[in-house]
This record gives sequence, C-alpha cells and structure tokens, in this order.
Amino acid sequence: MKPEILQIGPQSARVDSALAEAYVVHRYWEADDPRALLDEVGGRIRAVATDGHFGIAPEIMAALPALEIVASNGVGYDAIDTAACKARGVRVSNTPGVLNDAVAETALALMLALCRRIPQADAFVRDGKWLKGGFGLTGELTGAHAGIVGLGRIGKEIARRLQVMKMRVSYHGRHEQAYQPYAFYADLEAMARDVDWLVVIAPGTAATRGIVSRRVLEALGPKGAVVNVARGALIDEPAMVELLAAGRLGGAALDVFADEPRVPEALFALPNVVLSPHQGSATGKTRAAMGDLVVRNLAAHFAGDPLLTPIA
Ligand code: NAP
Ligand code: 8YV
Repeated sequence: MKPEILQIGPQSARVDSALAEAYVVHRYWEADDPRALLDEVGGRIRAVATDGHFGIAPEIMAALPALEIVASNGVGYDAIDTAACKARGVRVSNTPGVLNDAVAETALALMLALCRRIPQADAFVRDGKWLKGGFGLTGELTGAHAGIVGLGRIGKEIARRLQVMKMRVSYHGRHEQAYQPYAFYADLEAMARDVDWLVVIAPGTAATRGIVSRRVLEALGPKGAVVNVARGALIDEPAMVELLAAGRLGGAALDVFADEPRVPEALFALPNVVLSPHQGSATGKTRAAMGDLVVRNLAAHFAGDPLLTPIA
C-alpha cells in the first residue's frame, strides 16, 4: 500500500511524477472543497509536500493527526510552524545549498538591472527612441560598497560575485564570522549609512521581521539602493515605498514582497525600482535539484533513513 500524502501547492512535473509513483497524492490546491478533502483523507495523511510560499497553514496541520513529515521545496521555512511540528514530533526538511548560485545570480542581475537601467534601455530600443537620440548615462557597480544582511550560504555567494564586480563588501549578522574577508557591522543602521547597496538575504524569522526599518532605509539614503532576495517581511515595505517615491531612498531591486503575489501598486510608477516575481531560485537546473531533494527526503523518511536535509 502506497503511503498517502498531501501536496499543498503546485510543484514541477518532475516532482509530480516522482511523487505519484511512490505515494497516493492528494492535491490540496486543486480541491473544490479543501475542508471536505481534509475531512475525508486527513486521518490517513502521513506526509506533506509543500514549498516556501505555501508552507503549511495551522488549520491544515490540525487536520492531519497522522502527519510524520513536512517536506518543503525551498530553503526558507518561515511559512511552516517548526515549533508546532517539533512539539508533535513531525519532521521537517527543506532544500538548502542547491539554490545558492541561482539566488546569488538573481541578486547580481537585479543590481545590474537597476544601476545600468536595463529594463528602461530595453524599452527605449523597442520603442524606437534610439533613432531620435542616445539613452544617456547610468551608474555602475564597480567601486561601490555593498552591505550584505545575512552572510550565510547564499550571502557568501552574493559576496563573491560582488567582489568580482570590484565592489567593497561588508556584512551584518548576529555574529561576526571567522576568516571572512569582509568587514563586519554589528549595527545594521551604521552599515546602511556607510554603503551604497544594502543586499538583504537573511531568513524570515520573528527577529528579522522589519529589520530593514525606516531608520535603516533613511540611513541608506537618496544615493543608496536596497536589494531584497530574502523575504518581504524583512523590510518595512510601506516606509520603503514612501521613501522611494519621495527620493529619500535612491532605489530598490526587489524579488520578494510582504504579501506575494500582491505588490504595492505605487512601485509600478517608480523609475528607480526593478521588480521580479520571486524568481530567486527559478532556473530549470536549480528547481530540478530542489525538487529532487523534496522527493529524496520523503523517500528517506519512509525508508526509515536519516533525512538528507532536515531543518535543525
Ligand atoms: P543561511 O545559510 O541560514 O544564512 C542566513 C544568514 O542570515 C546567516 O548568515 C545568519 O547569520 C543571518 N541571520 C540570521 N538571523 C539573523 C538576524 N536576526 N539578524 C541578522 N542576520 C541574521 O540561509 P540561506 O540558505 O543563505 O538563505 C537565506 C534566506 O534567503 C532563506 O531563509 C530564504 O528566506 C531566502 N531565499 C530567498 C529566495 C528567493 O527566491 N528570493 C531563494 C532562496 C532563499 P548569523 O547567524 O550570524 O546572524
Ligand atoms: C522558492 C525560496 O521560490 O528557497 C526559498 O526560500 O524562496 C525559493 O527558492 C520558494 O520556496 C517557493 O517555492
């Protein structure tokens, strides 16, 4: 008998077929009546497959008394109540490491797009405006100072890429890390005051909520730009929008937002902003590696083996 699992939201065709082969899969997001689905199959569900966006809502957890494991497609697990899982003895796995390069590339791409005005330059050519004159001058990354909020697995890959761009790199975290070639700032506001770019890549936790506050954004100032490839919750989004519109914050390159997929409409009209729909890890290669980890963690669990990537 195949174990029964609940899939919360869509996954790739590759994951779908691997799951269908090993399990009886109930597709929560496709249910006409999700409550009725939970009432019918909830007692038999032993695993949940989800991702960093959907996580698992408390009411779904509560409807799954036989739940043993939540396997999430994504490194960030802020949408999963890990304390509640631990209290119930439910294991949780995520997909760390395999997406570092893709997310770091996204951060660099967003920074280049913002400072070299790539979206505007593309529109300029397509609109035939080049025939009437040149596009004008832009900024550049070379020689600028970046401050990374969260020098973890992905933060380190971003830092390496920024060094290749001949940028100076500093970082902020809860701890100074040994043997890093970057200056450490214990005080985020002080770092924001000193840098040209603030690159946010710390996890979404209670402690990081709003860490990039109005004061931090004001310290970054009219010549500074914020880049967010972490979670929308880390930035005071209303303050960021207000400061960008008023010219008191120089720019923003954003892959993540507080209430995805809803993005504050005020951002759409601002020329000093580049927007991306949470594409950090969204390459074919990286999503395949992430999906494989979801499938392999579930297989390890049902085989009684240690998980490949359990969360601590
Ligand atoms: P990681 O290896 O755990 O690194 C996290 C870093 O954040 C660590 O250096 C940690 O340093 C720092 N940090 C943790 N709490 C902090 C706090 N309260 N204040 C300041 N710094 C803090 O995580 P990762 O694998 O690099 O992933 C980071 C996050 O990126 C994920 O959790 C996820 O939310 C996000 N992400 C987004 C995308 C996307 O598509 N845009 C893709 C992947 C990941 P200390 O311990 O010294 O504080
Ligand atoms: C995913 C992410 O897009 O890994 C993360 O934390 O934010 C992204 O890689 C997310 O998990 C939704 O699938």
